[in-house]
Amino acid sequence: MLIRFCSVDSVSVKVSVIGLGYLGATHAVAMAELGHEVVGIEPDPKKLEALKSGVLPFHEPGLDEALTRVLKTGKITFQSEHSENSATADLHFICVGTPQRQGSDAAETSYVMAAAKALAPHLKPDAVVAGKSTVPVGTATELQRVMSEIAGIDVNLVWNPEFLREGTALEDSLRPDRIVVGAWNEHSVEVIKTVYAPILNLGTPFLVLDVPTAELVKVAANAFLATKISFINAMAEVAEVSGADAVSLAKAIGYDERIGNKFLRTGIGFGGGCLPKDIRGFMARAEELGVGSAVEFLKDVDAINLRRRDRVVALAKSELGDLRGKRVTMLGISFKPDSDDLRDSPALEIAQRLRREGAEVTVHDPVSLSALAEKDPSLGRAAELVEAVRGADLVILGTEWKQYKEADPELLGSLVETKTVIDGRNVLDVDRWQAAGWKVIALGRSIRNG
Ligand code: UDX
Repeated sequence: MLIRFCSVDSVSVKVSVIGLGYLGATHAVAMAELGHEVVGIEPDPKKLEALKSGVLPFHEPGLDEALTRVLKTGKITFQSEHSENSATADLHFICVGTPQRQGSDAAETSYVMAAAKALAPHLKPDAVVAGKSTVPVGTATELQRVMSEIAGIDVNLVWNPEFLREGTALEDSLRPDRIVVGAWNEHSVEVIKTVYAPILNLGTPFLVLDVPTAELVKVAANAFLATKISFINAMAEVAEVSGADAVSLAKAIGYDERIGNKFLRTGIGFGGGCLPKDIRGFMARAEELGVGSAVEFLKDVDAINLRRRDRVVALAKSELGDLRGKRVTMLGISFKPDSDDLRDSPALEIAQRLRREGAEVTVHDPVSLSALAEKDPSLGRAAELVEAVRGADLVILGTEWKQYKEADPELLGSLVETKTVIDGRNVLDVDRWQAAGWKVIALGRSIRNG
C-alpha cells in the first residue's frame, strides 16, 4: 500500500458521472466545484429534468445552492445516455446504486454491471473508469473483464470508494478524511490524482491500494461503524435491566482514545441506504467466498439494531395498553436529521408497526413529509410541530432534528393530557422536560419519573 501526500497541479479534466442518485449527484456537483467539466448521466427522466433545472431530487443541505452555482458556470451538463460528448471524457465515475437484492441479503450488482456494459463502447483508449458504488469484493475484476471484452481494449478500471454521509455530503466530498483508490496501473492513478488535485493539495491522505482491498475498505468501514452503534445499543439493553445509564456509559468509555466517543450514540439504531444493506451484503459475500463465519457477528449487529425498534413498540404498549385508537405522534421520520431519506428508517418502521396495531400515528418532520406521502400515505402527517403534538397520548422522538432538541416542553405539554415522551435518540434535556411535567422514557437509561 502506498500512502501519499501529494502536491499536484490543478488541471481541468473532462469527467462523466454515471448515475445521479445521492452519491452521483453529489459527486458530479463536487467535481464541477473543483473546476472540472462534468457530464452527468441519468436515465430517469424525472431526476434528469429536476437536475437540469437546478432542483435536487432529495434534501441535502448546501447541495442545491452548489448545483445552481455550477450550472451557471456551464461546468456541468446532464443527459440521459452516453453520447459523442460524454465519450470524450478522460475519466468516468460509476455511481449507480447497489441496493439489497430482492429476497436475499446480497447486494444487487446488476445496475453496476449494466452501467459498465453501456459505457464500454464509448471509451477512449486512455480513458479511466472509476467505480464509486459500494460493491461486493471481486466485482471490479468482473467489470474490468466484461468492459475490456466489449471495448476491445484493456480497460483502465480503478475502484475509488466514497465515504460521504447524508446531511454533510458535499462537505464530505470536498474535504474527505482520505481518498482511496484501488488500481491495476500507474496511468489510472495519475488520472485520479489529477482530478482530486485540489483536495490532495489540502494534505488529504491518498491511499493507493490493490483493487480488492479498495472494494473491501468501504464495506469494512461501514461494518465497523454499524458494530460500534450496535455495541452501545447492546450496552443499552443491559443498562435497561440493571438500572444503569448507557448514555453516561458511552461518555465514560469514549474518553479512552482507543475507543473514542464518536458513533456511540445509543437510541433506536442505524438505518439509511448504506449501513443496514452493506452489513447484510458483506455477510452474503463472505458466505459465497467460504468465510461466512468470519463476519457472522454482523448478524448480531443487525439483530441488536432491529431489537431497538421492538423495544420502542413494547414501551409504547406498556404505556398505552391496547394501541387501538390511541394517538401517537412521531417526531422525525427520516433515518437521520438533515435528510429526507426514509430507506430503512427506524422511526418509519416503528410508526408503521404502531399503526398496524391500531394506533393513529401522526408524523412531523421538517423535510420528509412529501417523501413520506409517497412511501406510506397511511400515516398521518402534520406540517406544524404543535399541530402534530396536540392531543397525543404518546410522543416519540424518532429523529434527532435540532428543532426537537430546542422545542419548548412547557408549550408542548399544554397541548396534551398525558405528557409522556419516548426519547428514541437521547437528545432531550430530561430535567427540562420533567420540570414541565413530562414522563420521559429514554432508550438505555433508567430515568426516575416523578
Ligand atoms: C454511512 C457512513 O457513515 C458513510 O461513511 C457511508 O458513505 C454511507 O453510510 P449515512 O448513511 O449518511 O453514512 O449515515 P450515518 O451518519 O453513518 O448514520 C447512520 C445511521 O446510524 C443513522 O440512522 C444514525 O441515526 C445512526 N447512528 C449514528 C446512531 O444510531 N448512533 C450513532 O452514534 C451514530
